[in-house]
Amino acid sequence: MTLRHLLADDDLTAAEQTAILERAAAMKAARTAEQPLAGPQTVAVIFDKPTLRTQLSFATGIAELGGYPMIVDGTLAQIGTRESVADVARVVGRQASMIVWRTFAQERLEQMAEHAGVPVINALTDDYHPCQLLADLLTVREHKGKTAGLTLTYLGDGANNMAHSYLLACAIAGMHVRIGTPADHWPRAAVVARAEALAAEHGGSVQVTDDPIAAVSGADVVATDTWVSMGMEAEADGRHGEGSPFAPFSVTGDLLRHAAADAIVLHCLPAYRGYEIAADVIDGPQSVVWDEAENRLHAQKALMAFLLEHADDR
Ligand code: CP
Repeated sequence: MTLRHLLADDDLTAAEQTAILERAAAMKAARTAEQPLAGPQTVAVIFDKPTLRTQLSFATGIAELGGYPMIVDGTLAQIGTRESVADVARVVGRQASMIVWRTFAQERLEQMAEHAGVPVINALTDDYHPCQLLADLLTVREHKGKTAGLTLTYLGDGANNMAHSYLLACAIAGMHVRIGTPADHWPRAAVVARAEALAAEHGGSVQVTDDPIAAVSGADVVATDTWVSMGMEAEADGRHGEGSPFAPFSVTGDLLRHAAADAIVLHCLPAYRGYEIAADVIDGPQSVVWDEAENRLHAQKALMAFLLEHADDR
């Protein structure tokens, strides 16, 4: 068997994505029924950026799978500064059964995967957030009964990691994915091209537009994210201040009325009410963000179980 990682959303085939989501639903119904990390085996969970949900859900999930979550503070480990990513990978891979890493450049994660000898999971990079997408798709399945054929609209910064992950993961799921974003915050062209190819293969479609009403019109799922991604704090004034280019893409009640009447609203959190989403939307009846936050746990457990089954060539 080949060692597998989740570095970007398209590391999973459509069949694998579906199998993981179905397994996540089963794990949600019986939280400790599967214990593939019994021993306990250690999983290293490393953070170079802030977190609440990701640390909580991986620590809880690893424990529920019978394992031990070794939380590593990246500011102490100083990976790539104190020693190379490759050397850290070689050391951690000798002790942990799996590595979960939240870091900056995607290339750092790729180096970790190349040298660790154990599965590596992207817990958010500057480019992608694939664990969040598994939770989002699980949430859509719970509320809509399916993913294929639905229209999901993401509004906000089209160049950030969530936009890129929505493009890839939703295309794999056979969804019609729309990105509504200012013209100078378009997703990376290579990611759009990859998503278009995946959508063509799986019966979905891809649309990127700077018209927020066209983006959201008739959508089954409306998603957003902070306008100030981690690492962009220096740009916060321009992104949140008066004249923000993102203001027309704020998920307000007025904009949401253009979506399907039974549309659900996603936000990966943390949320900034009054900026990317109005308080009466995130706290309103169409919001499913608390299910979405819980589903990080179940989706990641199913992902870890899947990767462990492909990790026996250490
Ligand atoms: N959604 C998400 O990744 O949350 P944290 O940044 O709190 O981990």
